[in-house]
Amino acid sequence: MYSHASSSGVFRIGGDLPIHRLGFGAMRITGKGIWGEPDDVAGVIRTLKRLPELGVNFIDTADSYGPDVSERLIREALHPTMHRYSGMVVATKAGLVRTGPDQWTPLGRPEYLIQQAHRSLAKLGIDQIDLWQLHRIDPKVPREEQFDAIRYLQKQGLIRHAGLSEVGVEEIEAASRYFKVATVQNQYNLTNRGSEDVLDYATEHGIGFIPWFPLAAGGLAQPGTPLDQIARRHQATPGQVALAWLLRRSPVMLPIPGTSKVQHLEQNVAAAGIELSQEEFTVLDRLGRAD
Ligand SMILES: NC(=O)c1ccc[n+]([C@@H]2O[C@H](COP(=O)([O-])OP(=O)(O)OC[C@H]3O[C@@H](n4cnc5c(N)ncnc54)[C@H](OP(=O)(O)O)[C@@H]3O)[C@@H](O)[C@H]2O)c1
Repeated sequence: MYSHASSSGVFRIGGDLPIHRLGFGAMRITGKGIWGEPDDVAGVIRTLKRLPELGVNFIDTADSYGPDVSERLIREALHPTMHRYSGMVVATKAGLVRTGPDQWTPLGRPEYLIQQAHRSLAKLGIDQIDLWQLHRIDPKVPREEQFDAIRYLQKQGLIRHAGLSEVGVEEIEAASRYFKVATVQNQYNLTNRGSEDVLDYATEHGIGFIPWFPLAAGGLAQPGTPLDQIARRHQATPGQVALAWLLRRSPVMLPIPGTSKVQHLEQNVAAAGIELSQEEFTVLDRLGRAD
């Protein structure tokens, strides 16, 4: 059974660009260690082409995925017909440099961030990035300089909306003095709840909250757990129920499960059609906090 991502509901990025809340993370379409070409390029292209058919119209990528490989393959598979990718919102990021597989180093010099935004525009073949996110605030550079670079990119029209990644509430407030924070992307899932305060803040202020590593369910994914039982009741996998739980947790939640495989993509999108009862949601919420 295929579900359509529209079942996850609509969120407007920056109160402007409408997307279906269940999106796609494009970090997993590269080689091992998020480095170089994927083993199965044809499979990745098939996966990307399947996105619009399943109603997924929000893709999250970054200049550093590959590096460059993820943005290039997105362009190859989903050639833009106009400014936008046929109605899809492609969000990208910069602020991390790559020195090898699994190696990520923050680099927040304003001239570098501006350069990378220009490069993402060229790689994606567009004249404005719908959503550009600062991948990390670089602790070696005054954060005001990084926020000012984002304000500059927006004023120049190179980016439409801007977001942050791995930040706390105080950092969102500091950045908001320079530009409107449209989204925040932090690690968050059923059993990793370290960003509850950021999620509550985002919900209150209409900021999109993009939980990365959304499929994880820690020890709850084991056979025989309440999560496993709920999954069986819905004829679903624990990962699908973890996604359904996220979607129910807040109307600003924008999960971006990532995969290089069509079958996994179809499974993940099907999670948008799972309706948890209030009791199931509450049980999972409590167990997830304790795990
Ligand atoms: N802002 C940040 O600092 C940051 C950090 C990390 C990630 N992200 C973003 O968040 C997105 C998601 O994060 P993530 O990739 O760490 O976590 P995830 O999407 O929860 O998990 C991805 C992993 O699960 C596998 N998978 C996906 N669907 C599956 C399914 N239906 N059944 C079985 N396995 C499945 C994938 O491998 P297969 O390819 O084999 O399916 C991959 O190994 C990334 O793509 C990226 O866009 C952002």
